[in-house]
Amino acid sequence: MKTNSSLFISGGSGSFGAMAIPLSAARGLKVITSGGVEAKERTLALGADRIFDYRTEDYTEHLRDVDGAIDSLGDKELPRLFSILRQGATVVSLRGMPNGSFAKTFGLPLWKQWLFKLVGLKNERMAARKGQKYHFLFVTSDGKQLQRAASILEKCNVRSAVGNVYLLEQAEEALRDVAAGSKKGKVIIKL
Ligand SMILES: NC(=O)c1ccc[n+]([C@@H]2O[C@H](COP(=O)([O-])OP(=O)(O)OC[C@H]3O[C@@H](n4cnc5c(N)ncnc54)[C@H](OP(=O)(O)O)[C@@H]3O)[C@@H](O)[C@H]2O)c1
Repeated sequence: MKTNSSLFISGGSGSFGAMAIPLSAARGLKVITSGGVEAKERTLALGADRIFDYRTEDYTEHLRDVDGAIDSLGDKELPRLFSILRQGATVVSLRGMPNGSFAKTFGLPLWKQWLFKLVGLKNERMAARKGQKYHFLFVTSDGKQLQRAASILEKCNVRSAVGNVYLLEQAEEALRDVAAGSKKGKVIIKL
């Protein structure tokens, strides 16, 4: 995306947003997000221009012609997200249905590519109505990208929210914590 373009991140008040917001702002993007109000100050300090409290505000009533979006909430949120984007804009979802192009890029076997093509059709059709595009992303590790991200995060002095810390032998307990939706931050297993 070009400098000064607008980017909407759904659910940006969590740990994904804590990384995505400063990285996007450092690229010169105008970042708008939705999320929990408790994280408002922290989210603005990370570089977001505005955060909509999802419990009390409806961003679709305020935003139009946004240049792009990253979605961390999934299929239920996608119609609302597409409605605020300009013609031709792209949504990258971390939680929506995977689609055919994801399966191909990910190198899945042909039968799985067809399967994902089918399940991803709904979101692709929704996007196509305004010439928009839908992509599903599954994060993979890429050394070069991580190095670039690390130097931006260091410059911005970003600290991830850390929740409970466990020893390796407490891994089961740690997983139960994650499954229960630990709200304090990333659950850490110390090696
Ligand atoms: N595909 C991938 O490779 C990939 C990579 C990273 C993450 N993800 C997925 O992305 C999602 C988010 O990850 P995360 O680590 O950021 O989770 P997280 O730390 O739990 O954060 C989620 C945030 O979303 C907020 N939220 C909940 N419902 C909302 C709504 N309707 N509208 C706006 N905000 C809402 C929450 O606020 P409250 O706490 O106040 O409710 C919380 O601040 C997860 O489902 C994760 O699995 C996928």
